Amino acid sequence: MSVRMGILGSGTVARTLGSGYLDVGHEVILGSRDPSKLADWVEQAGLKARVGTFSEAAHSSEILILAVKGTAAEEALSLAGPENLRDKVILDATNPIADIPPKDGVLSFFTGPEESLMNRLQKHYPGGRFVKAFNSVGAGRMVQPDFQGIKPTMFICGDDEDARKIVSGLVQELGWEVCDMGSSAASRSVEALCILWCIPGFRENSWNHALKLLR
Ligand SMILES: NC(=O)c1ccc[n+]([C@@H]2O[C@H](COP(=O)([O-])OP(=O)(O)OC[C@H]3O[C@@H](n4cnc5c(N)ncnc54)[C@H](OP(=O)(O)O)[C@@H]3O)[C@@H](O)[C@H]2O)c1
Repeated sequence: MSVRMGILGSGTVARTLGSGYLDVGHEVILGSRDPSKLADWVEQAGLKARVGTFSEAAHSSEILILAVKGTAAEEALSLAGPENLRDKVILDATNPIADIPPKDGVLSFFTGPEESLMNRLQKHYPGGRFVKAFNSVGAGRMVQPDFQGIKPTMFICGDDEDARKIVSGLVQELGWEVCDMGSSAASRSVEALCILWCIPGFRENSWNHALKLLR
């Protein structure tokens, strides 16, 4: 079933997920403070691709994807409009990466050890049904990742069980197996997977991998 999807972001993640979800038949509108910077994406993504402001993308969507810089996530949601977030499933792909260089390939987060960015966002916007997903892989492997027939695992979490089911379905549509890690209590662990995922990138310039849970 086709859903109306709003994606907050104009970067590589927003563009990649936007094209991926258009390809599997959803309606997509990408949001930016400056929608004109997405003209090249519209040209490449085709006639069905739409762009607007953060608020337009949030207002016209049934499902929202948050794909902005971690340090800007609260501001982007504020620009999207709290009234447009109420009761909405929000797939949160952000990571709380601090604006300092990695040390020995290890990124720093601006969040403390006992919290996550998603915890903060959920607290600020209690009406939103946040689910963390797509934060533990690079954009290059986000859509229909091809590992010789083996599906990688996307770890998700969030407080609303129905929202997790909806997001699981959406993640599976892009070619993933999903591991549901439960409530937002898991979010600082799921966010930390980003640090782990990036280490081979920074140390060996190898960015082509994905994570898998073997049982
Ligand atoms: N890159 C990856 O491979 C990857 C993989 C997994 C997860 N992630 C996470 O996904 C998120 C997006 O990453 P990205 O690399 O696609 O893009 P990015 O460069 O991290 O973020 C670009 C977006 O952030 C918004 N932004 C920046 N400053 C802002 C501000 N002050 N107020 C409001 N919005 C602001 C920009 O909005 P405008 O459009 O208005 O300029 C733009 O849409 C990040 O949290 C990242 O950690 C990235």
